Amino acid sequence: MENLVQVIQSVKLDDENDRLILLDQTLLPNQKVFLELKEMKDVWDAIYHLRVRGAPAIGIAAAYGAYLGTKQSGAESYEELYEDFQKVKEYLASSRPTAVNLFWALDRMEKRFKKEEGKSVAEVKLALRDEAETIREEDAKVCESIGEHALELLKPGMGILTHCNAGTIATAKYGTALAPIYLGQERGYDFKVFADETRPLLQGARLTAWELKEAGVDVTLICDNMASIVMKEGKIQAVLVGCDRVAANGDTANKIGTSGVAILAKHYNIPVYVCAPLSTVDLECKTGDDIHIELRPSEEITSKWYSEPMAPEDVKTYNPAFDVTDHQFITGIVTENGVAYAPFTESLPKMFKQDK
Ligand code: MRU
Repeated sequence: MENLVQVIQSVKLDDENDRLILLDQTLLPNQKVFLELKEMKDVWDAIYHLRVRGAPAIGIAAAYGAYLGTKQSGAESYEELYEDFQKVKEYLASSRPTAVNLFWALDRMEKRFKKEEGKSVAEVKLALRDEAETIREEDAKVCESIGEHALELLKPGMGILTHCNAGTIATAKYGTALAPIYLGQERGYDFKVFADETRPLLQGARLTAWELKEAGVDVTLICDNMASIVMKEGKIQAVLVGCDRVAANGDTANKIGTSGVAILAKHYNIPVYVCAPLSTVDLECKTGDDIHIELRPSEEITSKWYSEPMAPEDVKTYNPAFDVTDHQFITGIVTENGVAYAPFTESLPKMFKQDK
């Protein structure tokens, strides 16, 4: 599964210089610029400003950020270094609230830190670097497995609607919701993909349409409010989306607008598959009500893409970055260990049990 897009790595470490190399996703599709970050505050900033985005990619970037931040500590003992690590972890955890992968990756870095107890400061720092690398490598494998499981749910020639960007650049490689599309592309499935533009930050138009087009997939860009007409016209046989956090009951937070798409799909009897690595499943959140939804600045709605503002000055805005799709609108949650179906409170924990 290698094509131009598949070989792009949106988050990686430059081994020689110990810098985090990030594809600046805010500049796509017009410019392909790779940033070189060496300070953890630059990593925080890149996550907050969506230069790196997509739940798995955020987690990977945070893991590298935790390594880079801890590396700069002048601590002389394991205990002192642990105190500094805690501050780094807390700081990076404040960059964005909704994608659980961020917290998952930082917790994993902490576990690794604790495993190194008794080792020298230099050894612990190297272990953190190793853990961040492992998180990235594992994510690519996980995404490939999600692709295989999701492809089994699809048939050649299907029309697929997707929202936001859950593609290769949102992960270490392959993507989640786009992974089956890339696999299908290789195997002659001839999917017709419809990409919602995904207001207000246009991840669908700027990123998904770009990724799929570069990979030679048949992709059609539509505005968010066109999902209903393409469903009604019979152009869509499945909805595939990624997610930022799945609660224990299957409620799922994903990019704002996903829940509306899922409700529409139910009306038109179209299956909705949420593609989620287990790192995105948060069994500690009982329902979607426990998921913290990020609110973002007004200007993303009022003026960001326009040469002049397209809303009255100082108009009140409400800009939630995510919404929660109620589990009743989700046909299946595709993980690296298989597909979970309702009741999700029973099927999701079983997915983890296979993770041995
Ligand atoms: O605000 P974003 O662009 O980080 O939101 C991303 C999404 O909603 C994706 O669908 C989700 O993180 C899954 S990425 C594999």
